[in-house]
Amino acid sequence: TDAPQPDVPADMDAAKLAAAACRRCNLCEAATQTVWGEGDTSAGLMIVGEQPGDTEDIAGRPFVGPAWQVLSALMAETGIGPVWKTNAVKHFKFQPRGKRRLHQSPDRSEIDHCRWWLDLERRFVKPQMTLALGATAAYALTGNPAPLGARRGKVETGRDGGPVLVTWHPSYLLRAKGPDAMRLRAQLRDDLATSVRMAV
Ligand code: URA
Repeated sequence: TDAPQPDVPADMDAAKLAAAACRRCNLCEAATQTVWGEGDTSAGLMIVGEQPGDTEDIAGRPFVGPAWQVLSALMAETGIGPVWKTNAVKHFKFQPRGKRRLHQSPDRSEIDHCRWWLDLERRFVKPQMTLALGATAAYALTGNPAPLGARRGKVETGRDGGPVLVTWHPSYLLRAKGPDAMRLRAQLRDDLATSVRMAV
């Protein structure tokens, strides 16, 4: 007999509620809570990050920490319309180190398991345009695991057929130094501007 299919939530609120009890992978065990997407459910633009960071894990909200400061500074330059912001993986993955929790990238299987939720968000928002921040989001959205170097700034086709613009993760900018940092910042700003323009 066929394996039982998971119930498909009827709307965004139902999906968020179901995700709060998610046990599709092990990340729920150490993380504080599921961090669901947030924003305008009829937005033309969806911005997808990697996973909640330390701040987001505690707040229970996506993109409220340092990565968002970078993005919102750039948005102040490009302007931005309605947006749905979310992550490829909805639990914080970390390595405890004394009192600190060091970020760890989610692996392929964790990203694959969590795609159930990302796909639901996409079905409910139906964005015109999606901005993938970093390799995890790019992989989740397109199925292509290749590194970002040759992909950044280009529009790819998502698994669901929609356009996905691949760009740097803002945390990557935070770690870059000198002229490199300036170049990466300008590229992320350009990509943000392109995605805003293509979302309308
Ligand atoms: N980085 C991400 O990718 N997502 C967040 O929500 C916060 C930081």
